[in-house]
Amino acid sequence: QDSLYQEKNRPQYHFSTRRGWINDPNGMIFYEGEYHLFYQHNPYEREWENMSWGHAVSTDMIHWKELPTALVPDSLGTMFSGSTVIDYANTAGFNQGTIPAMVAFFTVDNPEKQIQCMAYSLDKGRTWTKYARNPLIDSKAKWNSKDTRDPRVFWYKPGNHWVMVLNERDGHSVYTSKNLREWAYESHVTGFWECPDLFELPIDGDKSKTKWVMYGASTTYMIGSFDGKTFTPESGKHSYTSGTIYAAQTFANMPENDPRRIQIGWGRVQQPGMPFNNMMLLPTELKLRTTKNGLRLGSVPVRETEQLFEPVQQWTSLSAAEANEKLKSFQPFDRFRVKTTIKLSHATSAGFSLLGQRVLDYDLNANLVNGIFYSPEDMTSMELTADIYVDRTSIEVFIDNGAYSYSIERKPVSTAKDALQFWGNRIEIKDLKLYTAKSIWK
Ligand code: FRU
Repeated sequence: QDSLYQEKNRPQYHFSTRRGWINDPNGMIFYEGEYHLFYQHNPYEREWENMSWGHAVSTDMIHWKELPTALVPDSLGTMFSGSTVIDYANTAGFNQGTIPAMVAFFTVDNPEKQIQCMAYSLDKGRTWTKYARNPLIDSKAKWNSKDTRDPRVFWYKPGNHWVMVLNERDGHSVYTSKNLREWAYESHVTGFWECPDLFELPIDGDKSKTKWVMYGASTTYMIGSFDGKTFTPESGKHSYTSGTIYAAQTFANMPENDPRRIQIGWGRVQQPGMPFNNMMLLPTELKLRTTKNGLRLGSVPVRETEQLFEPVQQWTSLSAAEANEKLKSFQPFDRFRVKTTIKLSHATSAGFSLLGQRVLDYDLNANLVNGIFYSPEDMTSMELTADIYVDRTSIEVFIDNGAYSYSIERKPVSTAKDALQFWGNRIEIKDLKLYTAKSIWK
């Protein structure tokens, strides 16, 4: 199978589909040792059309095996985004003997409206049966809007019931159910658009102190509390990442001994001339941290990512000119990773470029990193760290241990030999580490 993924613009350590279009990750769930990644998929063309659920599985979130399309359009419409659960207690009655059903919730789109539907699988997501009495929810009239979509369902243990978060018109609604079939409307939080996620996270890793995070497709989030029916925001809207990322979601059903909240986002990255289009970004672990600005979400690539990288060289305490001289020996592979700490001293801007493209561009006065607001929590050291993941068509940058991150399309603007360049007035490169990157397709 891997020999099918050899095109010149094929991302080398990110998931992309063999053929066709992909957008949102869907139904992300861990079950029986497998991570499932379903996704919005047009199996036939490079364009957004014929929305279906594509399917890939992995044991480490890095190496993926593409399986046949899971959900295809039916007489009600096309298959839009959604989520999956495992119905261990057989609340819906789909289980077979000791096999619990994997149940998928998705939006069906047709020219008239968007309705919420379900399907179940008894063979680990390989084949699906659509529920005979779809739709479960038809809320177009209630909202006087066609925009009702992207159900995210999870089990709320304290209340012994299911929760569905659904984007409706101008925000995220909460519905509840005992049996996955009948759903009751509970509440609504305005200020979000598409692809809701809602999850509980420990504060600074301490499981005895938690907060809930309400999340929307554009990577904005609110921190608050949740009683099983109503999310009460206790913060404004923040964002911890930006760029090509959209419609990210997190894995459901993580094992109790590994309760990480792991997210994968859609990378809106054009793949020119390729039989496929777009890609998924690296899986990242979300963490809630106390900062001087209050509680904030941060993200770093999952530890499984480390297997991809081989350290090749490391230097400490260099001037920009010295660093640039050293970097000449490192030819710009089509994929690699650079980790660096820059001390600004009295520079007001500094950064790093790859073949003329500004991969890191920090402006201290404007509080901008690559054009987006970012203010380091602590300015006393005047240092900025960046962990930079370069693949054939994309670059992901994690600033200050994931306090902020962004993903960009890789667009070289020069073919110069000295491809990697630091800039900044009398900056110090405190630390510089180079890594080669493996390919997941070889
Ligand atoms: C987000 C989105 C979802 C919708 C899907 C359709 O990118 O617009 O709201 O379900 O894509 O492909």
